[in-house]
Amino acid sequence: MKAEREDEHLRILIRRASIERRVRQIARKITSDFRGERVHLIGVLKGASIFLSDLIREIGLEVSLDFIAVSSYGQSTRSTGQVRLTKDLDTTIEGLHTILVEDVLDTGLTLDYLQRVLSQRKPRSLRLAAFLVKAAPRVKQIRPDYVGFEIPDEFVVGYGLDYAERYRNLRDICVLELPGGRDPRPPTPPSLPR
Ligand code: IMP
Ligand code: MG
Repeated sequence: MKAEREDEHLRILIRRASIERRVRQIARKITSDFRGERVHLIGVLKGASIFLSDLIREIGLEVSLDFIAVSSYGQSTRSTGQVRLTKDLDTTIEGLHTILVEDVLDTGLTLDYLQRVLSQRKPRSLRLAAFLVKAAPRVKQIRPDYVGFEIPDEFVVGYGLDYAERYRNLRDICVLELPGGRDPRPPTPPSLPR
């Protein structure tokens, strides 16, 4: 895998074929969990867009979808521990079987926040699907109902996940390595682990 810049190195962690297999398995599980029902999927922009678009096409149910966006990583999530809605849903989720779809569960702050916001809107049910779950110290204890892969606490890109908006289009999940072992993540305040 070739990095886009000379000083960035990519190491494949999860190959495209494994991703495809796992996404089909998760879709089958959702299809059987909600047999005969309609499900409403909510993707967290932008990272979850690729996972969501692969997932919905493998679900054999009546499906609708919407997107939500929160202030993220490089900006303020990790630096303040605060999450903020930057784009709300287009439609109500009241009475719907809703599945929140996220690219990666790291500290848990994003999913914890969104779970609280969405559960106040009276969905018929609310489940969480995380494509990746990191073996990282969590600020918030979150248990996703559907998990793609558990991965080590490393910074990854591809399949929707970015580094400064780049690499979302990679078909594999890759660890991004910077020169001198530099950490691609923005600095963490003392109030958060790591
Ligand atoms: P959390 O709120 O710390 O659980 O982090 C969730 C968000 O941080 C994700 O939606 C991603 O946007 C971002 N993030 C966390 N780890 C990574 C990574 O390894 N690569 C790219 N983005 C990440
Ligand atoms: Mg994200």
